[in-house]
Amino acid sequence: MKFPILSIALSAILFFPLGLTTDDSDSESQHYSQCRCLPTDPCWPKPSEWASFNASVSGSLIAVKPVASPCHDPAFDQAACENAKTNYKLSVWRGSFPGGYQQINFETSAVKNETCYIDTPRSSPCGQGNVPVYAVAATSPAQIQKAVDFAREKNLRLVIKNSGHDYLGRSAGRGSLQIWTHNMNNIEFSGNFTPESCKWKKGEEAVTIGAGVQLKPLYSALAAKGKTAVVGLANTVGAAGGFIQGGGHSPLGPWKGMASDNAYQFTVVTADGKHVTANECQNSDLFWALRGGGGGTFGVVTSVTIRTFPDTIMLAASLNATIPDRNQFYSFTADFHAFLPKFSDAGGSGYYYIFHETNSIIIGGFFAGQSNPNATEALFAPLVQKAREYTNSQVQWSQLPPFPASVGIDTILNGTDVTGGLSLLSSRLISRKFLESADGPGRLSEVFKTIGPNQNTVFIGHVVAGGQVARNKGTIDSALNPSWRKALVHLVFARGWETSTSFQEQAIIARNMTDVEAPVLAALEPDMGAYINEADLNERHWQKVFWGENYDKLLRIKARWDKEELFMCKPCIGSENWDAESICRK
Ligand SMILES: Cc1cc2nc3c(=O)[nH]c(=O)nc-3n(C[C@H](O)[C@H](O)[C@H](O)COP(=O)(O)OP(=O)(O)OC[C@H]3O[C@@H](n4cnc5c(N)ncnc54)[C@H](O)[C@@H]3O)c2cc1C
Ligand SMILES: *[C@@H]1O[C@H](CO)[C@@H](O)[C@H](O)[C@H]1NC(C)=O
Ligand SMILES: *[C@@H]1O[C@H](CO)[C@@H](O)[C@H](O)[C@H]1NC(C)=O
Ligand SMILES: *[C@@H]1O[C@H](CO)[C@@H](O)[C@H](O)[C@H]1NC(C)=O
Ligand SMILES: *[C@@H]1O[C@H](CO)[C@@H](O)[C@H](O)[C@H]1NC(C)=O
Ligand SMILES: *[C@@H]1O[C@H](CO)[C@@H](O)[C@H](O)[C@H]1NC(C)=O
Ligand SMILES: *[C@@H]1O[C@H](CO)[C@@H](O)[C@H](O)[C@H]1NC(C)=O
Repeated sequence: MKFPILSIALSAILFFPLGLTTDDSDSESQHYSQCRCLPTDPCWPKPSEWASFNASVSGSLIAVKPVASPCHDPAFDQAACENAKTNYKLSVWRGSFPGGYQQINFETSAVKNETCYIDTPRSSPCGQGNVPVYAVAATSPAQIQKAVDFAREKNLRLVIKNSGHDYLGRSAGRGSLQIWTHNMNNIEFSGNFTPESCKWKKGEEAVTIGAGVQLKPLYSALAAKGKTAVVGLANTVGAAGGFIQGGGHSPLGPWKGMASDNAYQFTVVTADGKHVTANECQNSDLFWALRGGGGGTFGVVTSVTIRTFPDTIMLAASLNATIPDRNQFYSFTADFHAFLPKFSDAGGSGYYYIFHETNSIIIGGFFAGQSNPNATEALFAPLVQKAREYTNSQVQWSQLPPFPASVGIDTILNGTDVTGGLSLLSSRLISRKFLESADGPGRLSEVFKTIGPNQNTVFIGHVVAGGQVARNKGTIDSALNPSWRKALVHLVFARGWETSTSFQEQAIIARNMTDVEAPVLAALEPDMGAYINEADLNERHWQKVFWGENYDKLLRIKARWDKEELFMCKPCIGSENWDAESICRK
């Protein structure tokens, strides 16, 4: 099956790669007892202690290097460097190393002024940056328990890394020990699953996913079984890690809810080194927190069990409209946003791009459970007509014949995402109510006019809310940002730079995004928040923006399960007590 326009739309979804700056970190931290032990500290474990720890995890300890290290002296290796240069934008390659992060800026350290870029001279040093020092390449929960115990006993900075896709850098950390879940790849289907201690419940169909399973292999396994599940539209993002723990949006979300709405059970190694099961019948507070509270915070998830659904039929349609006159283009962006509630009511989900370079809007839309192309055509017709009325517009609309969802999505995905950029994101959830209001779409266009010209912004709209995501309000009680239940769109933009951009210049770009540009978008709906997994790590009122009224309860659950804050990242629950690197308590 061919999906020409949609796969282009997908490449646009995937082409924005991102990263980090630390603009407000202290200079080199003071290492008093409030701080984690770093490699330069006397309290850092001795080589003999690392060796016995390595033996205790069956030799799975790795000394981690940045992925561009073979391109620099003293470890220069011509063949390995060429290979790195060929692959450095492929997420599947980056994800195959514990030191590979999908956004290069998280491999650098502004605090230490360290980088290890692939395109700088061989003679320029390869700094470790925020790449962890050691990783445990875990294949079992028992190894993770050992790693958690060792980090706690030795007071180490501990990070959990799965795919390394995080746009906020939460899976990286300077001077840290990493638990790397990439190799935990079990996928197990059940036709009759009941959560542990819920034996009175009727069995349901489900799939249990190991901590390292990535979306493409999961979609392939689902397609082979004639099943679907609610997970993201990406190849190498993990299904069981930060994705679902942050909520997890999906092209199937409007059909069946958020990914986290469809979780039955997590197994988790907690800060005390125990391996526990969390579901609605046991450890239910942990279960509540793991569905939206964010990755890297409550423990190391070793597996998650989610609902599966019998395969469904699906339609896909796309519109590409280019409107040369800039003011008319903004008028059309308003027409387009006013159309989205109708699109949602017709069962639509999808992704759109507002390109300032070409004055184009492109949307790739999905209609899960729908099989009548005439209905889709009739739905789009008035919008297509409007687009054609603008001066010199170029408009293409097309759709695919109905296809089975599982096979279709599996076909769209080719095994790798395009990553390896330097940037940071900013985002907001936009409510249905706002888009339905008389002046809402026009006010949104004013925002594009104000901040769009900078860096020829590509705004990416994710129509992954509405439908069942909204209907689950009141029926699913979880830590998910309550703004998701009111939202129709998750709107994102990025600010990027080059490897030649100094840390000082990066900080200026990042601060402008956080303090000048993001507030323009946020002001449209001061009570709406943002999606933790695709957002600005420097967001000012992050507790409220990412978790709203759930934040205080999340703090209480954090205190119950991780009193000593072994698991810490920014911006994660309780991180107001820590410096920007999660190394020292304030
Ligand atoms: C190309 C691309 C496409 C994307 N598509 C989507 C999409 O369709 N839908 C969507 O919702 N999001 C999407 N995202 C965002 C995605 O949800 C986040 O990047 C998310 O953080 C990825 O989780 P991960 O575990 O794969 O990544 P990682 O960077 O490895 O981890 C992310 C966070 O989760 C923690 N974590 C990882 N594993 C575990 C574990 N086992 N236990 C506890 N904590 C853990 C880490 O410590 C870190 O805090 C996309 C991102 C990219 C780059
Ligand atoms: C996979 O798809 C992406 C995005 O559509 C594209 O850029 C990339 O080149 C493709 N990779 C392979 C290996 O086909
Ligand atoms: C851990 O032990 C294995 C097996 O002995 C070894 O190959 C590996 O190099 C060790 N790791 C470290 C960091 O020394
Ligand atoms: C940071 O490192 C770069 C490259 O090594 C160097 O040119 C620059 O002067 C350093 N900046 C600071 C503030 O030390
Ligand atoms: C969208 O249309 C414009 C103008 O016709 C064209 O240049 C561009 O390649 C199209 N984009 C896609 C993704 O089809
Ligand atoms: C769609 O419209 C065409 C042409 O009017 C018609 O022949 C066809 O039966 C319609 N299909 C459905 C599923 O309604
Ligand atoms: C800050 O953002 C505004 C609005 O997008 C832009 O006009 C300006 O050039 C930006 N300034 C910097 C320093 O990036």
